[in-house]
Parts: sequence; structure tokens; C-alpha cells
Amino acid sequence: MVSPMVQYCAQDGFVGDWHFAHLARMAMGGAGIVFMEATKVEHRGMGSVGDAGIWSDEHVAPLRRITAFLREQGALSGIQLNHSGRKAGVMRPWEGFGPLDRTVPVEGRAHWEVIGPSPISAHEGWPVPREMSLADIQAVIAAWGHAARRACAAGFDIVEIHGAHGYLIHQFLSPAANRRADAYGGSFERRIRFAVEVCESVRAHWPQDRPLFFRISAQDEAGWSLDDSVALARVLKRAGVDLIDCSSGGIGLRSPTADAAARRLGFQVPFAARIRRDCALMTAAVGLIVEPQQAETILREGSADAVAMARELLYNPNWPLHAARELGLDDPFGLIAARAGWWLERRAGAGIRRD
Ligand SMILES: Cc1cc2nc3c(=O)[nH]c(=O)nc-3n(C[C@H](O)[C@H](O)[C@H](O)COP(=O)(O)O)c2cc1C
Repeated sequence: MVSPMVQYCAQDGFVGDWHFAHLARMAMGGAGIVFMEATKVEHRGMGSVGDAGIWSDEHVAPLRRITAFLREQGALSGIQLNHSGRKAGVMRPWEGFGPLDRTVPVEGRAHWEVIGPSPISAHEGWPVPREMSLADIQAVIAAWGHAARRACAAGFDIVEIHGAHGYLIHQFLSPAANRRADAYGGSFERRIRFAVEVCESVRAHWPQDRPLFFRISAQDEAGWSLDDSVALARVLKRAGVDLIDCSSGGIGLRSPTADAAARRLGFQVPFAARIRRDCALMTAAVGLIVEPQQAETILREGSADAVAMARELLYNPNWPLHAARELGLDDPFGLIAARAGWWLERRAGAGIRRD
């Protein structure tokens, strides 16, 4: 499964040729499920300049072009839906990831309002969000539902709700970011309420026979534990979630992937294994899964039902073909279209003399 990867080059939320090519090449390389990046359910949810959006019906057509092509390659298409909440309005990672200068218009537009569960900024110097009113909460939950309806119209097979990496849903879950005194803050049951209502809203607009995934930060730097995730997953299962995609961190860090600390291969796999076992729910493992045998072992040992990959697939979009060969599958080249596979099979068969 191709893990969602923001490309930072949409215009007013509209995807273009870059997105098409980025996702197409993953499907052409043999990926089974290809996920479209974190796509914003409302304009206020834009994390960065260039985020993709699905807050209007006009956003559907270019996405439909992508899903049709992915299907032709034999891949299922997924879309991750997101709202950045207090992490809205920041620079692209390679431009420093700091808050945007809010006095300078972006693409000719004034800055969008930053909202969150409580008026607590994500980092020093980042915007202090306006505390969402109950009306804001209802509006954002409804926006998630409308986004799911549009995702269906765009032809996606799977929707994933982004509840990880310090974005709006994670902000509600987190005792560090959510200091509300109403029905959406305080106890564990109240902090998870927003996440559950988002799932219900999505489920109401997303066909029952299409899978709903939910990405969590299985544990974070600011008080959310794996036990909390197990308890949350049980509730999400009842709300119609079919698979928990297990990432971690992001509430106190700018980005889990921007963190320079060395990580072990597959460091998040135990989260997927625990939730799968304790909740009898499908899970996806993600994070530093790079070797074919490593990925295969995760599945065979029952740690997860799907393996998601990001950077390794960016490096080599033909990785699924590579893995099929390494693992000794029958007809690995048949995994991709003959117009590439036929030639690659001959390339592999032909000895190359370099002397
Ligand atoms: C370019 C890039 C963009 C990303 N965008 C998203 C995103 O939109 N949503 C998300 O949940 N994670 C995002 N991530 C995190 C990945 O989905 C993945 O969880 C992370 O990179 C760890 O997997 P890896 O070690 O295979 O790269 C992004 C990662 C990269 C490298």
C-alpha cells in the first residue's frame, strides 16, 4: 500500500499533472493500494500552501481522472481526508516548516483562519488557534461527511480518516492540545468524541461496502499511550472503521518524518500487532518498512493486514515488482502492464557484459 504523501503543489486544492504522475507511477510499479495524500475537507484545514482539497464539488473531476487510471493498472485507490486544525498555515518542509508570514497573501488570498480544540499553539511562534465553538465542530464534522461523498463521486475505493500526526482529530484526542471543558474535552470519552463523530459522518456518506481506514498516532510525545489507542480502536470499530493504520507521534513534533532521530526498521509494527490482536480489527503497519522479506514477515506473522510504505516507494516506484522477484513469486513481471513488464523480464534475463 502506498502511504499518503502530501505533494505541496495543488492550486486552490486542485490536483494537477504532478499528482497524477506521482500516483500513476506507483500503480504502474505494481502497488496494490495507492493512497492519495492528506486532502483537506475544508479550506481552513489547509496545512500548507499547495495542499490538496476536496471541499467543493469542483475538486472531484481531476481526482476522478486519477482513480480511473489507477484502476486500469489493477490498483485500488484510497484517499486520506484531513483537517490540519492548529497546524494550518505552515511552510513546506524543505522551506523550513515554520509558520507562514500571515501578513503576506498566499496565492493572492488572505490567510485562512486557524482553528483548534483549544487556544494552544502547536509550537512556539506558531499561530494560536481560535477555540472552535460547538457550531464550528458541527460544521467541520459535516465537512468530513461531504468530503466522503465527493471521494465516492471521484471513484475512490477506500477512504482513510487522518487521525494522526498532530492534526485536528489528534488535537482533540490529546490532553496536551485539548483543554476544553465541554462535551468534547476532559475525560478520555469526551476527547475521543470528535473522532467518533467524524467517523459516523463519513460512514453516513460513504458506501457501506467500501472500506473505511483510520490513521492513528498509536502513541505520542505528549501523553497519548498505546493503551489509549487500543481503547479508541474498539470504539472506532463500532463506528464503522474497518482498519487502523498505525503511525505515531506528531503532536509535539513538526512532523514524524522530519524528526532526525535514528529509528529502527519497522519501529511502528508492534503498534499494529497489538491493536490487531487486542481489538480483532485489521491494521496496517507503516514506517521504515523497506525490505521485501521484512514486509512479508509482518504479514505472515500476523502483525498487520497491510503494509504501507512512503519514502522507499518514492525512491523506487517499482518496489512491488522488486519484492515479487525477491520473494520468488510466479510471474513477477506479470504484476505490471506488459508494455513495461515484457521488457523488464527480458532485461532481467539478458546477461550484461560490462568488460
Ligand atoms: C513526502 C511525504 C509526504 C507525507 N504526507 C503524508 C500525508 O499526507 N499523510 C500522512 O498520514 N502521512 C504522510 N507522510 C508520512 C507517510 O505516510 C509515512 O507514514 C511515513 O513516511 C513513514 O513511512 P516510510 O518510512 O515508508 O516513509 C508523508 C511522508 C512523506 C515522505
